[in-house]
Amino acid sequence: MSLYSEKVMDHFRNPRNVGVIENADGVGEVGNAKCGDIMKIYLKIDDDIITDVKFETFGCGSAIASSSMATELIKGKPVAEAMELTNKAVAEALDGLPAYKMHCSVLAEEAIKNALEDYYSKKAKES
Ligand code: FES
Repeated sequence: MSLYSEKVMDHFRNPRNVGVIENADGVGEVGNAKCGDIMKIYLKIDDDIITDVKFETFGCGSAIASSSMATELIKGKPVAEAMELTNKAVAEALDGLPAYKMHCSVLAEEAIKNALEDYYSKKAKES
């Protein structure tokens, strides 16, 4: 059996939602100090629904697959639901990650939470 599932390989080779959103409503960036990988997530939000999401990841294949899957999981969802996305759910949607690669999915969860916090703080300033 190969180390990585078909889904991980698919999202690594053909990542969904790669790119930048200009004037995003929320931007989140996180890094892992140990491996040096960096992930950035951009959100477009209308009426508390995530209408668009893009990512840029400078990192390993699992980090790219995790970002790709995570963006797919929150696209079109209410912000409250996206806030509850866990790295475990991302890894499960990818049909699993090797144990020593689980931290790559944590990066995706943290980047999304960061972007949502950015959105909430921007919203608070406006009102
Ligand atoms: Fe660091 Fe994958 S090895 S995010």
